[in-house]
Amino acid sequence: MSAIAAAKESLVRKGYLDIEVDPTLDLVEEINKLKKEKNAIILAHYYQEAEIQDIADYIGDSLGLSQEAASTDADMIVFAGVHFMAETAKMLSPHKKVLLPDLKAGCSLADSCPAPLFKKFKEKYPDHVVVSYINCTAELKTLTDICCTSTNAVHIIESIPEDKGIIFAPDKNLGAYLKKKTGRDLVLWNGTCMVHEIFSHEKITKLMIRHPEAKFIAHPECEAALLDKADYIGSTSGLLRYTQENDADTFIVATEAGILHQMELKSPNKTFIPAPPNNTCACNDCPHMKRNTMEKLYLAMKYELPEIHLEDWVIEKGRKSIDKMLEISAKAGL
Ligand code: 13P
Ligand code: SF4
Repeated sequence: MSAIAAAKESLVRKGYLDIEVDPTLDLVEEINKLKKEKNAIILAHYYQEAEIQDIADYIGDSLGLSQEAASTDADMIVFAGVHFMAETAKMLSPHKKVLLPDLKAGCSLADSCPAPLFKKFKEKYPDHVVVSYINCTAELKTLTDICCTSTNAVHIIESIPEDKGIIFAPDKNLGAYLKKKTGRDLVLWNGTCMVHEIFSHEKITKLMIRHPEAKFIAHPECEAALLDKADYIGSTSGLLRYTQENDADTFIVATEAGILHQMELKSPNKTFIPAPPNNTCACNDCPHMKRNTMEKLYLAMKYELPEIHLEDWVIEKGRKSIDKMLEISAKAGL
């Protein structure tokens, strides 16, 4: 490799894919061409921008995306999501090339729980089972007994014998919800999702008064006081299903606004109001999820970079917690 190519690759590995894309290029056509050429699959989370969802081979929540990453025949997995999701895909398909269009697409929950600090915390509860929300780093997964997502979290907690203590990390809001739902006394790590903790209770209450017919639905990463007002609480796929199955015409949706694209596609005659956040720009986009763009997706597929690399011991140890989660989910029919 030439010195220039090596320098470019090193920058790309750090997430700086600073290459101009010809604005006249038909990105949909180009990405579809690359998909075929490279036997690649695009997995997209519901929080991605609409254009990316539309070109994806699979759109889903964290559980669905992991199941898809574990079972795909593709040679290359292009993850339109955030870092922990692409890491999970790499753990599940270690021999495949896993690309993340922007390596800086992180997650405030994953960042809130550094593995060395968590290791010390865990030492205080030597007999406890560690359940970690999948929104955590690969290294944290190596300190975890069972992973969970918001779709299967209740099943995972209920699969643990009642006499066993449980540490739940890193989301304290999902943890508090699980405590309430399962009656178990979980030891919680103090992390939160920056998107789900920013919703304004005052603005939501006003919206509910203005739309008394609307159902208020929320993701369990939201604070307890907000969840107390909800008609339905669920993961992104659960929220989507609820809007399809419920007779209401209007829904106030307290999760990242990207999910509205699928809600509108699946129920074109219904109205979806994104729950307003507590900030002046009135924006409840996840800044990490929204780092991915069609341009970056195209470049990632063309140059096969940035690629996710994990050390073998991390894959070996961390994967056990994901396999356990998938096993319990399969038994529960999820
Ligand atoms: P789910 O799609 O699994 O509900 O997760 C939501 C989320 O915050 C992902 O980052
Ligand atoms: Fe992380 Fe929250 Fe963004 Fe999901 S929405 S990636 S939990 S910061």
